[in-house]
Amino acid sequence: MPVVVEAQNLQKYYNGFQAVAGIDFKIQKGQCFGILGPNGAGKTTVVAMIYCFHPVSGGKLTVFGNDVNNDPRTIKKRLGVVPQENNLDLELSVRENLLIYASYYGIKRDVAEKRARELLYFFGLSAKADQEVDKISGGMKRRLTIARGLIHTPDLLILDEPTTGLDPQSRRLIWEHLRQLKKNGLTLILTTHYLEEASHLCDDLIIMDRGVILDEGKPGDLIKKQVGTKVVEVDLEPAQRNALINSMDTLISGYQMAESTIYLFIPEDETKVMKALNNSNFAHTYQVRPANLEDVFLKLTGRGLSYEEDAGYESSSYAKTL
Ligand SMILES: Nc1ncnc2c1ncn2[C@@H]1O[C@H](COP(=O)(O)OP(=O)(O)OP(=O)(O)O)[C@@H](O)[C@H]1O
Ligand SMILES: [Mg+2]
Repeated sequence: MPVVVEAQNLQKYYNGFQAVAGIDFKIQKGQCFGILGPNGAGKTTVVAMIYCFHPVSGGKLTVFGNDVNNDPRTIKKRLGVVPQENNLDLELSVRENLLIYASYYGIKRDVAEKRARELLYFFGLSAKADQEVDKISGGMKRRLTIARGLIHTPDLLILDEPTTGLDPQSRRLIWEHLRQLKKNGLTLILTTHYLEEASHLCDDLIIMDRGVILDEGKPGDLIKKQVGTKVVEVDLEPAQRNALINSMDTLISGYQMAESTIYLFIPEDETKVMKALNNSNFAHTYQVRPANLEDVFLKLTGRGLSYEEDAGYESSSYAKTL
């Protein structure tokens, strides 16, 4: 597979502050590549260097085989960007937002109108074409921003947290569209702090924290390697926790303690752990579930999963965040 983006020892400093600390990765054509991490991990900084907005401070970054330092114009023409913050023109209509962007790329009016029509249809926005952007929903604004990023038929689409702050239904709809785009052969780079989003969409991902890559790989492989197949969540008195861990010995591949729960990581078969728990004298309750990316992050960082923003959706098990 041809490589679309390659970073070697990529670094970024903001006035002496190291936001990206020398990272390496490769993104192949046709992939959905995920950059996963909590607030301040460096996700936006990395993608902004790829779309030639922030200059690189050190190392090497090539996009479509061109160095971002030498050839940003060629690179920019071939990629579309969906920025983290909505920056649509609120006073213009939905259609006009697309047409004005097409004009920046020098696309002829008739070609632009046809393309806008197709994109509005694809994103389910045809009925809103003449509506002022100010008047459409948050989910629609996000879909329009993605459509705008595709107006010049780019080879690579960069999405910086495309679904942050959206309700679960709008989020799922965007996932469907992104999956379809990938099926059509588009290469996608997606930053997110939604673990389920990364699991659903990404072929390969890097988990970043504080400017470094903690691990990388396919979501399933990462889970298997870092955690195993199952997790047993045990609620237990703090005083009894160490004794429980010691009693598990080789039955578990690792564990994490959270406020009121111990997460036991199971390499393959949970039955022995369940037996040991059932036969123990500890006062506890437990549940078994498949291991997921959230466990990977917890294991890698040892930190909790709360995310200050989007508190409204945090309690739902659907939209678990880092
Ligand atoms: N323009 C800037 N000037 C100075 N520091 C910056 C600038 N942009 C980002 N930073 C800092 O660099 C670090 C990485 O920020 P970045 O925006 O890349 O993180 P992020 O992973 O995208 O976070 P979020 O999930 O909040 O969007 C943070 O510590 C941030 O404060
Ligand atoms: Mg960001």
